[in-house]
Parts: sequence; structure tokens; C-alpha cells
Amino acid sequence: MSQHYQHDVLVIGSGAAGLTLALTLPEHLRIAVLSKGNLANGSTYWAQGGVAAVLDDMDTVESHVDDTLNAGAGLCREDAVRFTVEHSREAIQWLIDQGVPFTRDDQTAREDGGFEFHLTREGGHSHRRIIHAADATGAAIFKTLLEQAKLRANIEMLEQRVAVDLITTRKLDLAGERCLGAYVLNRASGEVDTFGARFVILATGGAAKVYLYTSNPDGACGDGIAMAWRAGCRVGNLEFNQFHPTCLYHPQAKSFLVTEALRGEGALLKLPNGQRFMQRFDARAELAPRDIVARAIDHEMKRLGVDCVYLDISHKPAEFIKEHFPTVYERCLDFGIDITREPIPVVPAAHYTCGGVVVDQSGHTDVPGLYAIGETSFTGLHGANRMASNSLLECFVYARSAAADIMQKLDDVSAPSNLPTWDASQVTDSDEDVIIAHNWDELRRFMWDYVGIVRTNKRLQRAEHRVRLLLDEIDEFYSNYKVSRDLIELRNLAQVAELMIRSAMQRKESRGLHYTLDYPQQLPEAKDTILQPPIYGD
Ligand code: FAD
Ligand code: SIN
Repeated sequence: MSQHYQHDVLVIGSGAAGLTLALTLPEHLRIAVLSKGNLANGSTYWAQGGVAAVLDDMDTVESHVDDTLNAGAGLCREDAVRFTVEHSREAIQWLIDQGVPFTRDDQTAREDGGFEFHLTREGGHSHRRIIHAADATGAAIFKTLLEQAKLRANIEMLEQRVAVDLITTRKLDLAGERCLGAYVLNRASGEVDTFGARFVILATGGAAKVYLYTSNPDGACGDGIAMAWRAGCRVGNLEFNQFHPTCLYHPQAKSFLVTEALRGEGALLKLPNGQRFMQRFDARAELAPRDIVARAIDHEMKRLGVDCVYLDISHKPAEFIKEHFPTVYERCLDFGIDITREPIPVVPAAHYTCGGVVVDQSGHTDVPGLYAIGETSFTGLHGANRMASNSLLECFVYARSAAADIMQKLDDVSAPSNLPTWDASQVTDSDEDVIIAHNWDELRRFMWDYVGIVRTNKRLQRAEHRVRLLLDEIDEFYSNYKVSRDLIELRNLAQVAELMIRSAMQRKESRGLHYTLDYPQQLPEAKDTILQPPIYGD
């Protein structure tokens, strides 16, 4: 039997964004936080480098703003950048207050009460401003926030619950425009439950799983973007998919990320013959923004016909490497690579979705009552290329501003009632799951080949043709068979892939992460690519 639940706030996603929002709301509210796998399912747990913030007395808001605008290649919204950076210090203080064990800096511990945490450096940043917990910052943040959430009786954490679709007045043919809740697959019972809520938050992470090779965990399927689109929200700048330059190249490594902080601390990129090459592409060499470094590596790999390049930090003292990068050190050692003595084989892999659901400064979407925060959202912060470690910062700043907005609106919103149960009367159990597996593989492969680091009109047209065929097939499957996690994710991935391709086709220039051989120049005017769903405004 399917269940009906009622909460004040339904948070779909238990990563940095979802947990921060839940913990910032007052304790008299009943809050549900869902994760489609276990609670550590999202990218947050795997974040290595850290969180960018203006923390050092020598650093300034202006400098962090300028660096972000530069990395974003003219497309950042300056108000969003300024808003995020100006709130960076208080967001970090909030994390410290929650108990996040950031790495301390013994050498700069100051008696005047000044800042005493170690700050590292990453590409595009002109100052040391990345606060971190060694090279496992995401795990440290996630564990701390989860512990805090578990202490709160008003927060119900629900695992293995996959949101299928949002419930809106529009879908139910009711008066007014509002999000009322969501239908959620309970993987234990196999039933689709109904969650009603006064406010619904999409904190579902990114969509890098749309590519064959990715640094992201399995759940990064763009579910929130697809659900919001189907509910009538605009999406923005989905052509800007960030490829992290350095993922471990090893048949068993499954795209393990080698943090950019290695380059921040002096690691060098080298060709198989041991020569450096980054200075030929950018004066900042290894510390150029990610789009430039990833494209340079891609270019050199294709030019030389090699499978990978190398990242070398072995010139630094072994103790320094082990202390600062214990995760990378151990993981590489598992594969027989001792990074204190030899270079690491690396390749680029899909890493971050810069675009997403269009939101305002409170994380509010086009549909009243529906918010999108974290990687699933499009705030305007990242422009055409996200600067390293600005992503977690965005999660904290926007989760906190969404919470403030909800508190302001609380008194005006009552609980939705009589939401209909999910209708499964017309569907049966699938006996053809091979179709789902096949379509998953096909989609991720053509996205990698045709919508990757270097694009052309022809490649995009091929991808568009294929994604339309897939969408038709998936739609038919979805109408006839019971939903499963794989089917829900495939449906969402295909939808988001289609939006990414459409956005890429609209951009007739090369800018930031979108590079096409047919339009290699950047146009004088920077414009966002905003797509409107068919039902928007009708
Ligand atoms: P996530 O942490 O991805 O969480 C998504 C949540 O949504 C999960 O709980 C998932 O189960 C849930 N979910 C998704 N779909 C559904 C559904 N349909 N139903 C129910 N639940 C659902 N950024 C930085 O700033 N600094 C770094 O050092 C850094 N390092 C990174 C290293 C790696 C390897 C990766 C992959 C990313 C890194 N990033 C980093 C990016 C950053 O980690 C992410 O952008 C950020 O953690 C996203 O947080 P989030 O809360 O938006 O989503
Ligand atoms: C890294 O540690 O290199 C990832 C940082 C980021 O994605 O912001």
C-alpha cells in the first residue's frame, strides 16, 4: 500500500545544500530530507579540495568577485557573484559552529584571534582562499551536518526514496499556481508514496552522469532539473558542462578525482616524455581555470595519440604530500602508484553542471513554493565556467537564503490537502529491463563523443537526433511499466541531455566551457541561454 506523508518542508536531497537548509530552518517545522540512495549518495561526500571564501586579511571580496567573473568568461551575473562572496565568511563561520573539522594551520595560528585555518589555492584564484579538511572536505562537512541533523527531532531523514515527479496545482488542474509536494518511489516497498508539503526544495545535485566518464557518484542524473522542467520551470545555461582536468587514469579507478589543490600546492602537468606543456596554453600554466586546463590536456592527448597525461607532485617532500593529500595518496597507492615518487596518470572527466533550474537570490524557482539550491540550480554565479571550490560555497549561501525566504512566507502558506494517490493501475512489471541498460549506455556514450569538451554543429545535430529517438522510446516504456530507480534516472538523464544539446545548439560562439570548432570566437555580447518549458506562461 502506498503511503501519504505531510510535512512543512520537503527537501529532496541530503547533500551540502539540502542538509544546510534543513538545519537552518526553525525547529518547530516538520521537515523531511530524502535521498534516493543512502544519505551519503551525493557529490558532497566526495568533494576534496574545499570551500572558497574570503577569510584571510590579505584577501578581499573584490578579488574573489573578480576571479569568479574572469573564470566565468563574461557570463556570470555580477549581483549573484557579489551576493555569494559577501556571504562567504558567515557561511564558513556557520560550518565551523556546526563543528566541521577544517584543517588548521600551525604556522599561521595567530594569537590576536585572527584566522587560523589552513587555506589552499586552486585554479583561477589569485589568493589562498580555500578552506578544507585535508583532501576530504566533503566527507568532513557531510558527516558533521548529518550528525547535527540527527540530533534534531523535527528532521526526518529518509533513505532509498526516489522522487519521481513534483505535484503542482497545474498538474492537478487546480486554481492558482503552486508546488504542493512530490511523488516518491520507496525502494523498499516498491510503492510510489505521496508527500505533501507547504514548501518543496530541490537539492538533487548535478547531471554529470549524462557523460560516459565522470568524477561524480552514480546518482548525479539531473533529476531535479528534469522534474522542475516538467513542472514548468525555466532552465538556464545547460550547455556549460565542466570537465575536471585531472581524474585518475586507471582501468579500475572509475574516474577517481585528483584534487586541483595538488596543482595549487605546486604539482605540474607533464606529457609522457616528462615535458611540461601548460605554459604553452596560458600564462597561469597549471593554475589556469579548469576549462583551459581540460582543453589543453584534451588537445595534447589528441595531438600525441596518448591515453593520458601526468600530474607530478613528487618533487615536494613526502611528508607534506601525505599530510595534505592523504586520500589521493592512499587511493593511488591502492593502484600501485606512489605519488611521493612518481607522476599520476590523469585524464579529464565530466565534473560539474554549471547551468540548472533558474532561481532568484532566495533559490526560488518560477513555480511558487518550489526552491532549487546547490548544483541543481542556476543562480548566475558560475557563468560559462565555475571556478574551483565556488560550488560548495554556493550550496551554503543559497540554502541559507532559501531558509530565510521560507521563514518570511510561512504564515501565508497552509498545508495542501487531498492530494491524489499515484496511479499505477495502467502499468505492469517490466520484462525488458535490458532496454533501460542499453539506452543508459547509448546516451552516455554519444553525449561524451558529440557533446563533450570540443563540439561541432554536426556532432550536436547527431546527438539531437539520437536523443529524440531515445526520449520517444523511454516515454513509451514509462507509460507501460512500473517505475524503478533506473527508469526514473534514465528518463531524467535523457530529458536533461536533450536540454543540454538544445542549449549548446543555440550558442553560436565559443565561451568558457562551451567550445565549438564551427564558432571558435567569443561574441562581443554575453547572453544566458534560457529555455522555457512548453507549459510556461500558457
Ligand atoms: P549533492 O551533494 O550531489 O546531493 C544530491 C542529493 O540529492 C543526494 O542526497 C541524492 O541522493 C539526492 N537526490 C538526487 N536525485 C534524487 C531524487 N530523484 N530523489 C531523491 N533524492 C535525490 N565543489 C567544491 O566547491 N569544492 C570541492 O572541493 C569539490 N570537489 C568535488 C569533488 C568531486 C569528486 C565531485 C564529484 C564534486 C566536487 N565538487 C566540489 C562539487 C560539489 O561537491 C558539488 O557541486 C556539491 O557537493 C553539490 O551538492 P548538492 O547538495 O547540490 O548535491
Ligand atoms: C577539486 O578538489 O579539484 C575539486 C574542486 C571543485 O570541484 O571545486
